[in-house]
Amino acid sequence: SYEGEEESRAPVVTVMGHVDHGKTSLLDYIRDTRVTAGESGGITQHIGAYHVETDHGMISFLDTPGHAAFTAMRARGAKATDIVILVVAADDGVMPQTEEAIQHSRAAGVPLVVAINKIDKEAADPDRVKTELAAKEVVPEDWGGDVQFIPVSAKTGQGIDELLDAVLLQSEMLELKAVPNVPGKGVVVESRLDKGRGTVATLLVQNGTLRQGDIVLAGLNYGRVRAMLDENGKPVKEAGPSIPVEIMGLDGTPDAGDEFTVVADEKKAREVANFRQGKYKEIKLARQQA
Ligand code: GTP
Ligand code: NA
Ligand code: MG
Repeated sequence: SYEGEEESRAPVVTVMGHVDHGKTSLLDYIRDTRVTAGESGGITQHIGAYHVETDHGMISFLDTPGHAAFTAMRARGAKATDIVILVVAADDGVMPQTEEAIQHSRAAGVPLVVAINKIDKEAADPDRVKTELAAKEVVPEDWGGDVQFIPVSAKTGQGIDELLDAVLLQSEMLELKAVPNVPGKGVVVESRLDKGRGTVATLLVQNGTLRQGDIVLAGLNYGRVRAMLDENGKPVKEAGPSIPVEIMGLDGTPDAGDEFTVVADEKKAREVANFRQGKYKEIKLARQQA
């Protein structure tokens, strides 16, 4: 593509739903790996960000712990998600966090695709899920509404292909675009201090391309991208629109929802970061004194 040319990009999907309705299991199945087994107590410890290739196109996923990360990002004005997959366990139905997820996606103007999960279970009652969601004005297409409902099992894999197709259909309707051939920018998904590796930040590229060696300004922090890994820990040299990557080399840990941009020179990046840090300290001090 030539510089500045707009191209269609993959959808970024957040999986939401009530506790234990199967968000992580669903993502595991899709990735064909086993994140749940490695988590302490099977509870999601942090956001994972992954992308997968399907026969019909690429999809990027964010796995949120509860809805805290989604809310934190939105509070910062970051719109990282194009589509929400609302997971509802077919044996449990609509629960408080299901309703919360509906409210979050509505407030953010993000369309829903419903995954009626655990369809393999004896007590599964998909019609009850439809009735309960329709009462919340999330109305299935086959009932005259505009929301795709897909019965799935994260255990057997039933319906997963249909779910991915539903996401890609929804994505086509959104006509998502980005310009790959410009300096990268996007949003911080999470960051942490790793004992061995220093600061590690998961970034979602939203426009342009992020490359190893780039100078990145992220929230109050900056640094040169020393190393860049995909979700499997495999080193990569660059990441284009809708691709999540882990980077090393920032001078600190920016917050989820902070914007990041690639800047031309390191001195400029340091100046801006220092200026922002100064401002941040001023504001904090003023708050303490108020
Ligand atoms: P939190 O992150 O804690 O909110 O939970 P979660 O929504 O990520 O649910 P998780 O994937 O941890 O699944 C909860 C439990 O349901 C686990 O014991 C899974 O093995 C089980 N489970 C998930 N999906 C299915 C399914 O489709 N069928 C059956 N039978 N069990 C499932
Ligand atoms: Na769980
Ligand atoms: Mg989970």
